[in-house]
Amino acid sequence: MEVSIFIDGKEYKAPKGENLLKYMLSVGIEIPYFCYHDRLPVLGSCRLCIVLVENQNRVIPSCTLQIQEGLRVSTQAKAVKENQAYLLQAYMTRHPLDCPICDKAGECDLQNYGALYGPQTQIVPVSALEKHREEHDWQSDYLEYYSNRCVVCYRCTRVCDYINKAKALYVEERGFDSNIVPTVRPIDTSSCDMCGMCVDVCPVGAIISKPFKFWSRSWLLKNEETVCLNCPTGCNVELEFGVGDWRSKAQVYRTKPGKELDSCAKVFFGYDMLNDNRIKEPITNQNRFSFSEPIEIINKNFKEKPMAVIISPFMTNEEISLALEIAKKSSSYVSSVISVDLIPFLKAYKKPIAHLDDIASKNKFVFIGDDISSVAPVVSYRINGKVYKTSNKKSRDDKFKPTYIDIEKIHDVIDKDTAIIVDVYSFRYEEASKLGNMLNKIEAPVMPIPLQTNALGLYEALKDIPTTDIGLILEMIKQGEIKSVLLFGEDLFDYFDKDVVFDAFKNTKLTLVTPFKSELSLLAETCIPMKLTGEKDGTIHTLRGLKKVSKVLPFPIDDDILKELPKLAGIGNSFSYKEGMFKTDYKKEVSVYNSSWILEHSKLLQNLENKNKEVMINV
Ligand code: SF4
Ligand code: SF4
Ligand code: SF4
Ligand code: FES
Repeated sequence: MEVSIFIDGKEYKAPKGENLLKYMLSVGIEIPYFCYHDRLPVLGSCRLCIVLVENQNRVIPSCTLQIQEGLRVSTQAKAVKENQAYLLQAYMTRHPLDCPICDKAGECDLQNYGALYGPQTQIVPVSALEKHREEHDWQSDYLEYYSNRCVVCYRCTRVCDYINKAKALYVEERGFDSNIVPTVRPIDTSSCDMCGMCVDVCPVGAIISKPFKFWSRSWLLKNEETVCLNCPTGCNVELEFGVGDWRSKAQVYRTKPGKELDSCAKVFFGYDMLNDNRIKEPITNQNRFSFSEPIEIINKNFKEKPMAVIISPFMTNEEISLALEIAKKSSSYVSSVISVDLIPFLKAYKKPIAHLDDIASKNKFVFIGDDISSVAPVVSYRINGKVYKTSNKKSRDDKFKPTYIDIEKIHDVIDKDTAIIVDVYSFRYEEASKLGNMLNKIEAPVMPIPLQTNALGLYEALKDIPTTDIGLILEMIKQGEIKSVLLFGEDLFDYFDKDVVFDAFKNTKLTLVTPFKSELSLLAETCIPMKLTGEKDGTIHTLRGLKKVSKVLPFPIDDDILKELPKLAGIGNSFSYKEGMFKTDYKKEVSVYNSSWILEHSKLLQNLENKNKEVMINV
């Protein structure tokens, strides 16, 4: 219901009960604030957002006020301005003057508010030495805390408690001695997910990302929003890259969560894989040649029949269509790693699958599979309620303090407020079919989470065409029954032991579409670049439904040759197909830092993975 309120003498029709600060910001009224954040519970601690409530003649933090009929406030009253200036002086009194070397400079709320609502002076003269607060070393390669800069707004602890529920931070001491400290040191091997959200919500430079430290300045970077392509959740994220000055090489400097605070380590610290070790133009026999040479070799390889086209579930729907066109024209076998898990599951599970919005309002959740919070971290941010878990493996899901339940007994806990979430990678072949069949009989929304970004889109594209089991394809290649292969991505390494893959490809003509210079790319006769997050336009089927993804990075990656391939493929009009299976029981240990072959190319994530392997994760 809308009610009439007055802000600075002007009438507004505003929703009754809405948070006043949120409303004022939504209609463009400028007001300083530190502790408020749209996605976090209101705290009301910084007092900067005060307004004068005219009918009561007193100043009150606007973030603690709810909109009611007839409310009259002033953001410009003398008492408001004086109080804000006094508070900012109090913050400045203890804050060091290290803006020139602080990573937050240029986007720091204290710096900006000081200039806008200041003065930027101290209440009492305090020397640089006296400013010093006790240092707190988080013993991290990734996160650094500057106690001197902290304005004690508790955004970081709240984001870590309420959004990702990692509960990795707490406040030690009170008043001027307050400090934010990790529950376990080093924080890199604690319950911290390295989601980076505490860095993002910190209004000052008190928590910074160490890999970004001293690397660039906020005003030397361009920020663009796109969709993260590292898992099937489909989060909106921001990429920041250098443009137009001596510093800006063709690289991504950092990432940020979008407005919804959806971000996890895979994108926050995994951005380095966008910069390093990339294949940016077609390569033939390890050399860069002109456009015609790879075409010639691919043309020759495509004539070596039978051929197999192995499609990656990390491709967009449009790339998948292109791959299928090539396969059909060349009468090739079609396969993908999802023949191991997602295809048997979804062929058996006949009901429509649930998406993130369908499950977010539930208050009871049954997790089936090993580690949902590691495969799709942001899904775990939407879980608010009681969690039951069918796997007794120690995992990041344990942050919910779940109750273990036998998979055969999940009927006992299901009611109308329950959602079921399946970590599909945990189930193979008949196990996956059996689970799908079992879930058909249960009245609750089921959200399957595959390992890969567009596995759901690939399933839709493959479900009505004859596809061959991926294990069988590898065996056929090994036995010489398949002479040439067009392989998109390196997903095979998530499902097969390295030796099995290399053994199979030893004697075949391999054309590989991959983003990275890799061991496999050394084996391929021709490599064609594959694009990653922020590098391509298209659509993907995510856990949020169909999403459009956009190219925002200006760095050129030459994949034009891909579009030429259907012309080389021939004039066939059907797919080859072979019945049967050659099963793999290889399953990699999935963690939040290493859930796919793509993430293995991030050095930052690999370092975290290795550190965490060495210790018991304290979840
Ligand atoms: S990085 Fe994420 S999980 Fe770690 S302390 Fe910060 S908010 Fe918490
Ligand atoms: S570290 Fe940043 S977000 Fe956390 S309390 Fe201090 S100023 Fe606020
Ligand atoms: S949850 Fe998935 S889509 Fe979202 S930021 Fe993390 S890796 Fe990217
Ligand atoms: S934003 Fe309102 S008290 Fe801090």
